Amino acid sequence: MPQDNEQANNPGDRRKFIVISTIGASAACALFPFVTGIPSVLDPVTREDGNAKVPWTKVAALASLPEDGTPTKFEVVLAKVKDAWTTYTDIPAGAVYLTRKGDEVVSYNLRCPHLGCAIDYRKDSNDYFCPCHNSTYGLDGSVTNDDSPSPRGMDTMETKVEDGQVWIQFQQFRPNVAEKIPLS
Ligand code: FES
Repeated sequence: MPQDNEQANNPGDRRKFIVISTIGASAACALFPFVTGIPSVLDPVTREDGNAKVPWTKVAALASLPEDGTPTKFEVVLAKVKDAWTTYTDIPAGAVYLTRKGDEVVSYNLRCPHLGCAIDYRKDSNDYFCPCHNSTYGLDGSVTNDDSPSPRGMDTMETKVEDGQVWIQFQQFRPNVAEKIPLS
């Protein structure tokens, strides 16, 4: 006991004790999510369950799409989005064109791969057009004008049809590079 009292009364020992306690508490806080397996602190917005999988989002009923492949525009609303502390629901994330051939559906991001303007579908010429810098795209999303500033065609996303509903894995991609690189 006399020894404890000596340590407690020694200012140098008290400082050491405080420093060690602070480091210990910080380390415990940093390790807490890993130890407990809490994924929300680690999850970027598009990750759902701690792995790198982009969640599927329901976009439209298959029956609402023209069977001849004419593009139809749909807003994409994510059912669930997480940041470090909060889960948000029904978050508008962007828009896509869906084209249908039979039961096959392809989705194209509305955002131009050049610098991100919204791409229009032109009914008269049956193609896509970006009004910002005059890029044109065919119905398959490929660049069709030689002087297009866009370094790649329109961005497609994973798409599936289940129980008559069209689902996509909605993603944005890095603009103005030839490669299609996901942003998250
Ligand atoms: S943003 Fe579309 S062509 Fe430049």
